[in-house]
Amino acid sequence: MAKPVAIEVYNPNGKYRVVSTKPMPGTRWINLLIDQGCRVEICHLKKTILSVEDIIDLIGNRCDGVIGQLTEDWGETLFSALSKAGGKAFSNMAVGYNNVDVEAANKYGIAVGNTPGVLTETTAELAASLSLAAARRIVEADGFMRAGLYEGWLPHLFVGNLLKGQTVGVIGAGRIGSAYARMMVEGFKMNLIYFDLYQSTRLEKFVTAYGQFLKANGEQPVTWKRASSMEEVLREADLISLHPVLDKTTYHLVNKERLAMMKKEAILVNCSRGPVIDEVALVNHLRENPMFRVGLDVFEEEPFMKPGLADMKNAIVVPHIASASKWTREGMATLAALNVVGRIKGYPIWSDPNRVDPFLNENASPPNASPSIVNSKALGLPVSKL
Ligand code: GLV
Repeated sequence: MAKPVAIEVYNPNGKYRVVSTKPMPGTRWINLLIDQGCRVEICHLKKTILSVEDIIDLIGNRCDGVIGQLTEDWGETLFSALSKAGGKAFSNMAVGYNNVDVEAANKYGIAVGNTPGVLTETTAELAASLSLAAARRIVEADGFMRAGLYEGWLPHLFVGNLLKGQTVGVIGAGRIGSAYARMMVEGFKMNLIYFDLYQSTRLEKFVTAYGQFLKANGEQPVTWKRASSMEEVLREADLISLHPVLDKTTYHLVNKERLAMMKKEAILVNCSRGPVIDEVALVNHLRENPMFRVGLDVFEEEPFMKPGLADMKNAIVVPHIASASKWTREGMATLAALNVVGRIKGYPIWSDPNRVDPFLNENASPPNASPSIVNSKALGLPVSKL
């Protein structure tokens, strides 16, 4: 029997060899690479998470750049292999890059790309979806219907929480956290409390203006408060969404003690990174507090859940799909490809990685720049003047 073909090749005679460890949505990213003279190799290995050894095989003896995934361990071994193969660039198809050892990449002079600016709304919308699904017990109710248990309307059936007038707490009010806050304030007229090391003036101005608008229309105005500690948010908010980056300071940010500070009927949402929550402590908390609910997109040791979590009716769990809208995933693929080819061709780095629209316009050629290289300063790469 013929061996299944695990590598799909486009433009075999291209000058630069670019490998993608996974098929990615859309075709624009492939066409852009071909237009810039790349031979594109896409790995179709039927294995969800590629090991370091698998990727070393893909890199082979000569490879100019790799587009990889957040499930892969990009450290010393892979950067050394890529550098030996003559590689100049790696890009995660993700905004987060906690799977990448940037210091190791610096050591080998390899540029590391990520894909900000296209995930913001999509990720915030999933956090909002989980918030509503948890507040109104949608997944439980859906299961009940499908199990044929519905015998007719009842006053107590799946009673949940009204969000209007309650307080939404946001921990980490960067791009995604701020977009989520705006959705919950504007859409559901929630008051906002947030904690971030940096003041989010734009967010504050938005809530103030919206509050004034509501007041002028005879409605209860919404309010905002910047908390001086994360604990203040945990104590005061009815719904809390986590949006920090994962690093040493945010590992197990939500632990047993902090869960205990939250209201008994609070809702906790996590679309950031799993290890931000101590998942074992969370399972115990869910067990002891049946009115406490969570919506989780990420898990401490993906793809696994800690024992007991899957049995908890007060938990909604989805498989790391926060950025999974067609537009966003195609945009991420495009940005990752352009990060890699930009570096290979020696283009400068785009000056504002949050404003990547010119790279996403399907009707025009993208600028000759890498949209977002996280170690551009460390490598001393020039910045685009465009
Ligand atoms: C997805 O989780 C990302 O970081 O892009």
